Amino acid sequence: MNLSEPDLMEETNAGWLERDNRHVMHSLHTSESHLAGNAWIKGEGSSLVDGDGRRYIDAMSGLWNVTLGHGRPELIEAARRQMSELAYCSGYSGNTNPRAAELGERLAAITYPSINHFFFTSGGGESTDTTIKVARSYWKAAGKPGKVKVISLTGGYHGTTLAAMCATGMPSYWPAFEPRMPGFVHLPLHYSHHKTAASGEDVGTLAAADLEKEILAQGPDTVALFIIEPVLGGGAYVAPDGYFQKVREICDRHGVLLAADEVITGFGRTGRMFALDHWGIEPDIVQFAKGITSGYFPLGGVGISDRIAATLQDVKNGPWMHCFTYSGHPVGCAVALATIDVLEREELAERAGKLGARLKSRLEAGLGQHPHVGDLRGLGMILAVDFVEDRTSGTPFSPDRKVGASVLQACRDAGLITRGRGDSIYLGPPFTIEESELDRLADIVINAVKTI
Ligand SMILES: Cc1ncc(COP(=O)(O)O)c(C=O)c1O
Repeated sequence: MNLSEPDLMEETNAGWLERDNRHVMHSLHTSESHLAGNAWIKGEGSSLVDGDGRRYIDAMSGLWNVTLGHGRPELIEAARRQMSELAYCSGYSGNTNPRAAELGERLAAITYPSINHFFFTSGGGESTDTTIKVARSYWKAAGKPGKVKVISLTGGYHGTTLAAMCATGMPSYWPAFEPRMPGFVHLPLHYSHHKTAASGEDVGTLAAADLEKEILAQGPDTVALFIIEPVLGGGAYVAPDGYFQKVREICDRHGVLLAADEVITGFGRTGRMFALDHWGIEPDIVQFAKGITSGYFPLGGVGISDRIAATLQDVKNGPWMHCFTYSGHPVGCAVALATIDVLEREELAERAGKLGARLKSRLEAGLGQHPHVGDLRGLGMILAVDFVEDRTSGTPFSPDRKVGASVLQACRDAGLITRGRGDSIYLGPPFTIEESELDRLADIVINAVKTI
């Protein structure tokens, strides 16, 4: 790190935080915790450097998004070139730009075979709202205007714009902003059936049955959409075996659209370019953001099946009244194209799968028998570790002990930054991380857990 960097000379970490806290409100803001945080000055590969020049392993790739690591010249050059050529133009009907057209072609080639039409957004929450609007407008166009309800999972996260917040199944996101919109229903988390299933019962079947029961209880003629993350970002929960195949059948049986929220899992993080490939099924709608630009530019989007696109295109009573100023942003699309080039050229989805498995097995070796490790799970580069008072009974720690926060702090003291919720911590470094750095990451986490 070059300590003559202007920002490092100008201010300390604490100084930046204080100045910032006077005027800037952040996502999930509390002033007190903010002042104990980090002002990030520089990113290099899999590391971040704070305002005191301290270097940390970026163990969650920013917010799961910086898949190619920091400072990739190809992405920087793509943005620079596109900004000099054409920084912005409208993407409303009747307008486009070459990068948006090229990105549409590229996504048609790499997403699920039946998904060939794309609407671009600026991020994940806008993508969720777009998915819901696609589903509702599709059913109206298909002559079933009563199909408006949205089903999602308890524990699922789909963003915090108002409709996305209603789909998000984490109740802590709701109270300050209620009333929620009507027509949103949450199923129990599929993974929770592992704990409650009687011996011999098939967990995937039990979990999928929750969906069918709910569709029947609501009335199939009222349900538009089931939206689900292939692997949940909040907790790295992987669906039980057979679950997704059964979900696909249930959605087809009752005429409910299946949307895969691949904002985290899309573009390689689970070891496949898109995660439902692990289960051999296709969604009707796939939404993405984050990794499509490796976090270098705010871009997201929604891909829809040929069937949905054909029905929407048949509507003759005026435009599809959904729009964003930044939909199809030329710079975002240019960075996305460069990101996909690197992902493909360096076979980074495969690498994410292999490195994720390596990280998981090192953590299992180091923590598998730890008395306070209740579960260690995930797929590819989305991993989570849960801490409990007693691993045999699964008794949780009292929340006052803030065990998860203390493990995160021990990681931070040892030069590793990541996130968690309650008494779980999450791990998902860039796919480009060196193996030696990945092993160091595992060692830091294992040592931090020993402080419990
Ligand atoms: C699965 C999923 N969907 C949606 C979102 C919302 O994305 P954004 O924060 O870009 O609005 C996130 C963000 O973490 C996410 O993980």
